[in-house]
Order: sequence, then C-alpha cells, then structure tokens
Amino acid sequence: MKHLISTEQFTNTGQLEQIFKLTDHYQKIGVSETLKNKIIACIFYEPSTRTRLSFETAALRLGAQVISTENAAQFSSAAKGETLEDTIKVISSYADAIVLRHFEKGASKRASLVSSVPIINAGDGAGEHPTQALLDIYTILKELGRLNDLKIALVGDLLNGRTIHSLINLLSLYDSNTLYLISPRELRLSDIYLKYLKSKKIKFIETADLSSALQHIDVLYMTRVQKERIESIKEYEKVKNAYSLNNQDVKKMKQGSIIMHPLPRVNEISPDIDNDKRATYFRQAKNGLYVRMAILDLFLNKEKYDH
Ligand code: NCD
Repeated sequence: MKHLISTEQFTNTGQLEQIFKLTDHYQKIGVSETLKNKIIACIFYEPSTRTRLSFETAALRLGAQVISTENAAQFSSAAKGETLEDTIKVISSYADAIVLRHFEKGASKRASLVSSVPIINAGDGAGEHPTQALLDIYTILKELGRLNDLKIALVGDLLNGRTIHSLINLLSLYDSNTLYLISPRELRLSDIYLKYLKSKKIKFIETADLSSALQHIDVLYMTRVQKERIESIKEYEKVKNAYSLNNQDVKKMKQGSIIMHPLPRVNEISPDIDNDKRATYFRQAKNGLYVRMAILDLFLNKEKYDH
C-alpha cells in the first residue's frame, strides 16, 4: 500500500490490528525520532481543525518537519488556475509524504496518480476520510473492548458524510454487527453503500427514528449535516436540525454505550452531555493524534513493515 486513499484498501482485520498496535505504542511513548529528516506536506483546500493539526502534531512528535498550506484554494497556485496534478507533482518533489484534503471526491486518487511520494487522504469532498475511520474504530475498540457483535447507529448526513463512508467499509470487516442507518430521507446512505453492505451480509436497519433506537445500541455515531455539500440553503434548513441529542435522550441509552462524533458538532449533541461518561468524542479526537502517528510511520517507513 503506497498511498492511503480509501478504507476499501483494507481487506482483513490483521492490517487494522497492526495499526492499533502501533497506535498503542505511540500512545505509550508520546515522542520518537522515527521520521527524523523527513518532511511532511499538509495541503488543505477545505477547512480543518483536528485533522490538520493532529497530522502536524503527529509529524512533529515523530521528529519530522512540516510544510503546510491551510487554505490551499486561496493561498496556493490553485488560485491562479494551476491544476491539482501540477501542484502535487511539484510538492512531491519537495516532501516525503503529502496529507491532502480537497473539496472534490476523487481528488486524492487523482493526486496519487502523479505523486512520487505517499498521498494520505485527509478528506476528499463527500468521498472518504480514511484516517478518521481508523481513529473511530480504534476508539470503539479502546472503549468497548471489541469490534464485533455491536449495535452501531450511524446518524445524520449519511449521504454526504465522508467519515460515514470510510467507517462503513471498516465495520464491514467485522462479524455480527448491526448497523442502524438513521437519517432524514433526503440524506439517506447512497445505494452503492447499501449494496455493498448487502454483499458483505452486514445486517442493517434504515430508519429516520433515532429515539426508538437509543435503548438498543452500543455505539451512537452522530454526524453534522454537511452544509457545504447541500445544494441550496432551503434544502439545508429543512434537515439541519434533524437530530439533536439531549440529556433526556441519553437517559434512554445503555450504561455501557458510547457517544461518538467526528466533530465539529453544530447542534447534534448538546454540550450538557459532555460530562457524561458515555460522551466519547473528545477522547476520540485525542486518539486521532496517535493513530496518525502510526499511519505516518507505516507509510513513510514502509520497508520496516512490509513482509
Ligand atoms: C469531518 C470531515 O471533515 O469530514 N471532520 C473531521 O475531519 N473530524 C466531519 C465534518 O466535517 O462534519
């Protein structure tokens, strides 16, 4: 695996266990020199807080140096009309890996076709966000001790949410899970993913009703309605407050369940819940740092890990 473009690239749980092991290792040691003398480029054409800063922190904690443009659409030569391909060709001659976030689905794939160094997809439009899904499943494992035999509710914008798309691929590698796909009709998961779940024989229930599902589930994964990917403000207004979790809702949930969110949240989870032990989202964001240390190590030190 030279590039990390999609979670479809993972075909067995052994590959994920290797990432978990390395993540545990970096969580324990915190800093290392494993990427000394390497340079990581973080090229972001879309807003980001956690993904960019955790990647940059991960690189620094591994002894690498970072070059970055956080608003590449305006501050890079894209503003002058340069193609993504040309930009990537040039940056790949400067840096040892490129972490790329772009507003177009498929952008990371395109970049990988012209890059001489690893491309790590940090979100491509409504496509995928593989490192988020890796930190999501790592978090489920840490919190609940397993990744199979779980009832997992994916809630919100299943149509446009790239974290959802990447997560579905990874959850499909584990046995006996049931997915509750909870969204307004307009934001249902697309047929491609529904067909994929069927082909993998993953049990799923599609509904718009979050309230009735709460008592059954082990993992509640809330997501933001992706305003920037919805055509008109009118359409957005119709669905923007579809789900908004409050203390009353959480009372219905099992004691041993967890509440996750890739963040940023808008109205999906009331801050009143933040002190509940089931509120996992800030621990989830912190896990992202160590997962990204593992990913950078794996993709930049390939010869160390390939058998
Ligand atoms: C997500 C993203 O960018 O897709 N954020 C993140 O990376 N944690 C989720 C979102 O923006 O809603």
